[in-house]
Amino acid sequence: MGKLVKSAAMKAVTLMLAAGMTAFAQMPVSNSKIAPTLAQTPPMGWNSWNHFAGKVTQQDVMDAADALVKTGMRDAGYVYVNIDDTWEGERDAQGVLHSNSKFPDMKALGDYIHAHGMKFGIYSSPGLTTCAHFAASLGHEQQDADLYASWGVDYLKYDLCSFRKNMNDAQTAHPDDPEIGNRMMREAYVKMRAALDHTGRPIVFSLCQYGFDNVWTWGPSVGGNLWRTTDDINDTYGRMALIGFSQAGLAKYAAPGHWNDPDMLEVGNGKMSTDEYRTHMSLWVLLAAPLIAGNDLSKMSDDAKALLMNRAVIAIDQDPLGKQGDRVYEEGPHDVWSKPLAGGAIAVGLFNRGEMVSPVSVTLKELGVKKAREIVNVWTGEKVEAKDGSLTAVVPKHGVVLLRVAP
Ligand code: GLA
Repeated sequence: MGKLVKSAAMKAVTLMLAAGMTAFAQMPVSNSKIAPTLAQTPPMGWNSWNHFAGKVTQQDVMDAADALVKTGMRDAGYVYVNIDDTWEGERDAQGVLHSNSKFPDMKALGDYIHAHGMKFGIYSSPGLTTCAHFAASLGHEQQDADLYASWGVDYLKYDLCSFRKNMNDAQTAHPDDPEIGNRMMREAYVKMRAALDHTGRPIVFSLCQYGFDNVWTWGPSVGGNLWRTTDDINDTYGRMALIGFSQAGLAKYAAPGHWNDPDMLEVGNGKMSTDEYRTHMSLWVLLAAPLIAGNDLSKMSDDAKALLMNRAVIAIDQDPLGKQGDRVYEEGPHDVWSKPLAGGAIAVGLFNRGEMVSPVSVTLKELGVKKAREIVNVWTGEKVEAKDGSLTAVVPKHGVVLLRVAP
């Protein structure tokens, strides 16, 4: 390369780097002091969407609160009672948003939830409308945050939805600024975090934008306590497994105060087998995922209760070390994951994603375990022995054996 060409090329690279760094430096960042103090373990609760979707009413949410107490779910840790989309009504002349006729009294609902020893969650979007086309918070962020605080809200799920159009429009108008859309998205989250903090109420902030722009790399910087990493889950093994097993590699982005969120639970909604729901629950606890149940709590089968309320399983999710698990190896239909726990223990999931029962094995060496004083099958409580330095379990189709190995 000639000297002149070389220096021109270097100059171009320098300019590009400078431009990139400027764009990076301009990325909005939250200065929230509150956000890092919340959600020290992955949030647990119930949300209306997976079962009720757009039909949810205030009575349904009150019934859910009653059921959380009666079934023992609250005492197992499920304390957030979260309304999802479709509670919103119209804004009045002052711009104050009102709930619609399905939710006649939000303050009374918040009081009811609190009186039952639980916390109140709500839903909005940074756009003009929510995903279900109800009024959202664009241009009314502080007004809405103040309203939520006056109702006693403790948790906000903030769902990108129609704001994507605002981002796309800006991107089209500024083809020279490839980061403008992503910058607007971060700005919108920073803005709502600040509005929430300004109310003085400690409100958990749940980002929902389906993983765009690798949200796990910047979720904490905009004041998020959890962020969805994928598009929506549904009550099928295929969808749940696609989402859950695609979380490999994200462990390093989770920590107390901010968690990867592979979406809410479908356990108990009826379309998966017990083994498939056990896989769902086991994988989510290994992922230190928020455990937000999404089933009809008034009609819980004994199976669903056992799956959602196994204390030893929940303890893996809520472990104080606050580390997310990751894949150890994948071979054909076998998928083995582990999660470090406090005190040097680990949780191990031996998954069989195949269509036939199969033994699944992992060596203590592969797990990085030098000493295995006690190995327990977490779902059954039975003791397990390592043989020749290996852990092997016969695992049903789409099933799992979840182990806890103590040093
Ligand atoms: C999006 C979210 C869902 C739910 C719906 C509500 O699809 O990802 O979790 O909140 O919107 O409209």
